[in-house]
Order: sequence, then C-alpha cells, then structure tokens
Amino acid sequence: MTNMTNRTAFVTGASRGIGRACAQALSDAGARVILAARDAKKLEEAAMQIPHATCVAIDLASPESIKEAFSKAGKVDILVNNAGITKDGLAMRMKKEDWDAVLATNLTGAFLAIQQVLPSMLKERWGRIINISSIVGETGNPGQSNYVASKAGLIGLTKSLAQEIASRTITVNAVAPGFIETDMTAVLSDDVKNTLLAHIPLKRFGKVEDVAAAVRFLASEEAGYITGHVLDVNGGMYM
Ligand code: NAI
Repeated sequence: MTNMTNRTAFVTGASRGIGRACAQALSDAGARVILAARDAKKLEEAAMQIPHATCVAIDLASPESIKEAFSKAGKVDILVNNAGITKDGLAMRMKKEDWDAVLATNLTGAFLAIQQVLPSMLKERWGRIINISSIVGETGNPGQSNYVASKAGLIGLTKSLAQEIASRTITVNAVAPGFIETDMTAVLSDDVKNTLLAHIPLKRFGKVEDVAAAVRFLASEEAGYITGHVLDVNGGMYM
C-alpha cells in the first residue's frame, strides 16, 4: 500500500458516510487527516476513531467559513471535496433558493476550497485534488437538475483545472459513485432501491469503502500519471 506519511489530507463532509470512510482510508495509508464538516460534535466523534486525525468546522455554503477553516488547517497536500447536499424537485417547480443552495455547497464550495489549497500546492509542486461527483453527473437524472448540474459542473472543473496545473505535478480527478449505502440514500423507498438494483451488473449497492479505496488510489504516489479522469465506482451501472 502507498505510504502517505508525509502528506496532509483535508476531507470535506467527513462527519459521516463517504467522507468519513475517505478520511479513514487516507489515515490507514499514513496521511495526517483533517476532517471538516458543519457539525463539530459529530466530527469529533468521527475523529476519535481515526488515529492522528484533527477536525475543523466548515460550512461549504459560506466563503468566509471556507477561508477560516483552511487558515486553521495549514498546508494541505490532498484535498477531497466530498461534502454534498440534495434538494430534489422537478425543474419546472424548483425554487431558486433550492437551486442556489445545492450549487453553492456542491460546486462553488468545492471551487473555493480548491482556491485555498492551490497556493501551497503550487509552491510545493505536488498535490492531489479529488472531487466527489456522481453517476448522475454523467447520465442526468429527472428530479435532480440542481444536483446533477453541480455534479456535472465538478467534472468540468476537474478537467479544466487538471490542464491548468498539471505542469506543477498536481493532479485533479473526480470520483463518480453510483448507488452507495449512506444516510443520503437511506431515505429512498424499497421500490426505488429494487429498481436501481436491477440495473447494477454487480448486483449489490456500493459501500462507502468502495469509494474510499478509489479516492485513496487517486491520492497516492502511484496515481501520479492520472489527471482529469472521472473514476466510476458504480458496480457497472453506467459504463
Ligand atoms: P451524507 O449526506 O451522508 O454526508 C454528507 C456530508 O457532507 C456530511 O458530513 C455533511 O455534514 C456534509 N455537508 C453537507 N453540507 C455541508 C456544508 N454546507 N458544509 C460542510 N459540510 C457539509 O452523504 P454521502 O452519501 O456520504 O455523500 C458524500 C458525497 O458523495 C456527496 O457529495 C454526494 O453527493 C456524493 N455521492 C453520494 C452517493 C450515494 O449514493 N450516497 C452517490 C453519488 C455521489
């Protein structure tokens, strides 16, 4: 396994679900991990399970909060933009505030976090930026135009930024999970879950560890020749 002992990783939305699993996987690989999310109490609980982890409160919907959190974090070598929300509804009836809230957290928040880590990565001439997109960012999904726009936007951001900073040995990649069992998907009905399962060739839902393993790989030294890539972790649901 790759050795990340001299690296610091900053994971957003790390209090639970995929973000927490990413923090655990990066820590297992030796990185010093900074867990970031809104709920300080939940973060501390998560950080207690992970050796050498620290935590910092961040609200990705607030540019001021993002600046403050990164000023506390210090130098970051690996940034995992994982925090994300949904506010589903048909486009015709969607309130502008629901559109804005999802784009602000999922896309603008990730962009602003990237701006915070770039100066030190450029100076160090090394960095890993990993954006958690989604299968629906590639396929579209009715009832999720705001969420899909944010996730497709992350893919565009990934590819543009990868080209801007490749000369400094900084890679920028996206991971696009399919259906992963987390709090975000626990709310779906059994009917919806069974329909989804019928479309997954590997015949199971994903685990948070499946996504974390992909993130850990992209963060590793071994993945140094991969940039601007979208890594699907979806059981074959979309190829
Ligand atoms: P979750 O809802 O269990 O966790 C989301 C995390 O983001 C939490 O830690 C929450 O505190 C944090 N967060 C939300 N809004 C925030 C804000 N404004 N500021 C700071 N932190 C904030 O979600 P889950 O399922 O672990 O998803 C993680 C990422 O993976 C999200 O970006 C999601 O869109 C994406 N994803 C999830 C899939 C799934 O099937 N669960 C499938 C495809 C993508």
